[in-house]
Amino acid sequence: MTTGDDMIGTASAEHSSRRALVIGASRGIGLGITRVLLAHGWQVTATIRNTTRTPQALSELKNAHGAALEIVEFDLAQPSRLPTLAESLGSQALDLLIISAGIMGPGHQRAEQVTPESVGELFDINAMAPLRIARALLPIMASGGVIGFLSSRMGSVSLNDTGDRELYRASKAALNSLSRGFAINEALPAGIGVLNLHPGWVQTDMGGSEAPVTIEQSVTGLVNVMEDALGQVEQRFVDFEGQTLTW
Ligand SMILES: NC(=O)c1ccc[n+]([C@@H]2O[C@H](COP(=O)([O-])OP(=O)(O)OC[C@H]3O[C@@H](n4cnc5c(N)ncnc54)[C@H](OP(=O)(O)O)[C@@H]3O)[C@@H](O)[C@H]2O)c1
Repeated sequence: MTTGDDMIGTASAEHSSRRALVIGASRGIGLGITRVLLAHGWQVTATIRNTTRTPQALSELKNAHGAALEIVEFDLAQPSRLPTLAESLGSQALDLLIISAGIMGPGHQRAEQVTPESVGELFDINAMAPLRIARALLPIMASGGVIGFLSSRMGSVSLNDTGDRELYRASKAALNSLSRGFAINEALPAGIGVLNLHPGWVQTDMGGSEAPVTIEQSVTGLVNVMEDALGQVEQRFVDFEGQTLTW
């Protein structure tokens, strides 16, 4: 006979075997997603740029969760380190790959003012690097797994009715475009779902203190959306409350 306790034990054992990689977990949304996944029983590998300067909040999570959290060094601006990142993940497949790291770009946000170096960095970090990472790690994704790109409503061309922050918008539109091709040609045929995620306007260093959505609200919603998407082999552009956005 199965008791209630047995059922709880079975459910949590299945839960704890799920594995996620969060890219860009030093602060903000990536750190928050890491916190929620650990609370849900996931095995999490979290990347930061410099492991000799692990932020206190992440160290506290490590102290609380022990072996369930592994912290690995990775800088999106160093693509040559991608094979090392893949190797460090070992043999267990990834159920979730979340690429959260991103930048806003120069304060003026104007196409006629930006230098080639600065716009190159913006598009490389926000659009090219996420695709490089997803391509490199697709072979170690578990069947039915999900790749979540932290996009933005600002990356929607059809929803752009204010035109502000034109450089950042363009970089996220580029991410959306690149990830559509990646989903159609690579991820979906391999049985992997793709989410382009809008986290809301969130109270992080990037979002600022006047943002209406707290980190906790955003990341709780984002993790729910990603967990619900497991096993769904489709691509969606979706916000933290599960609402579909137009491209
Ligand atoms: N906040 C919002 O309202 C909002 C809205 C829509 C979309 N988003 C998107 O959501 C994602 C997370 O945003 P956030 O608000 O959490 O931003 P944030 O508070 O500014 O944090 C940015 C994160 O990206 C990391 N990062 C930046 N460049 C990196 C690089 N070259 N290599 C590795 N990591 C790098 C940072 O690491 P360091 O600590 O080492 O700098 C940090 O962990 C971004 O893609 C952003 O565009 C945010």
